[in-house]
Amino acid sequence: MAERGWPNVTVVNHPVVQERLTIARDKHTRVEQFRRLIGQIARLMAFELTRDYPSEPLEIETPMEPFVGSRLQRQLTLVPILRAGLGMSDGIMELLPSARVGHLGIYRDEESLKPIIYYNKLPPGIAETDVIVIDPMLATSGSLNEAITAVKQAGATNIRVMCLVASPEGIEALNACHPGIPVITAAVDAGLDHRGYILPGLGDAGDRLFGTS
Ligand code: PRP
Ligand code: URA
Repeated sequence: MAERGWPNVTVVNHPVVQERLTIARDKHTRVEQFRRLIGQIARLMAFELTRDYPSEPLEIETPMEPFVGSRLQRQLTLVPILRAGLGMSDGIMELLPSARVGHLGIYRDEESLKPIIYYNKLPPGIAETDVIVIDPMLATSGSLNEAITAVKQAGATNIRVMCLVASPEGIEALNACHPGIPVITAAVDAGLDHRGYILPGLGDAGDRLFGTS
């Protein structure tokens, strides 16, 4: 469902996604369950995101007779933002095993909240593929803005964002920096606190995924 006021933002309201996200938000959910939930939600969202992907005919033979089926027409590149994006891309790759993966290491400075990029390994030929930039948290959008700039610099033109929880401020900032990028998210929350954390959110996604808090 497109979000009011932001035609580029789709919120996946599926009840299974919402139930799993609620458990992930719960502060009592422990690291192993949190990790499993993030992978599951990402996989369900990838199913939704690829709903309109073009297919082409594929001729095969069943044990009974020839059959013309279909396969996805375009190559996909997943670009998880380290660290927390990894928790989602691992889940998505179970659904889309032929997707290529590029990695961007970005963290935000705790004082300034500005993104610091420390690793960039994007696959050659990314320009010819459909790119999904992945991060569970779209807070100020500093990290996603930096990531989208990097994939654009690598030549990508067909770019989407997948996140789990977005803030209204982050969506505005993303749309101002990179207008027209489709965003798929499981929730748009109330806003940011004074430290740039999403409320109600789910806390620090990287720490909860990797048990580093
Ligand atoms: C978190 C999160 C996003 C970013 C979102 O990463 O995974 O990448 O913050 O915030 P923003 O929209 O304000 O940029 P963090 O900086 O904590 O790095 P980490 O995953 O390495 O812990
Ligand atoms: N990064 C996180 O992991 N969580 C937030 O709420 C904001 C930024």
